[in-house]
Amino acid sequence: MARIFVLNGVNLAGLGQRRPEVYGTMTLNEIGKLLRGEFPEVEFEFRQTDHEGEMVGFVREAAESVGLAINPGAWTHYSYALHDALETVDIPKVEVHLSNVHTREEWRRHSVVSPAVDAIVAGMGAFGYRAAVAYILSRGGGR
Ligand code: DQA
Repeated sequence: MARIFVLNGVNLAGLGQRRPEVYGTMTLNEIGKLLRGEFPEVEFEFRQTDHEGEMVGFVREAAESVGLAINPGAWTHYSYALHDALETVDIPKVEVHLSNVHTREEWRRHSVVSPAVDAIVAGMGAFGYRAAVAYILSRGGGR
């Protein structure tokens, strides 16, 4: 069974309630269920943390999997630690943003993690996670 890590960073536990006009109404649990329903052949490691060091650990753990999708939340914009962790993991990696960060505040337009990933999805809402997983599988993860 293909194992894929779907990692959500700081403040994303609040999805569903946090600015639904920007991030949608689905909770993180619902997004997890959506993925499991759509990709029953995948074993998901679906995780969320508000702690940067813990996220770095998750990224390292993903090294043995077929790929990872990560929504780093606000860490996107300033975490060199996360960039460096991603850089060391040699699997397909997708950066996911629910919102289109390029239409929002200026500071959201820059991602320090993007140079360490293969692909970026932004502005597709929860569908972006599905796109990320489909991409990872297309890279040889088993579908
Ligand atoms: C986000 C965009 C980030 O700028 C923000 O800090 C988030 C969520 C998104 O999914 O659109 O927490 O990554």
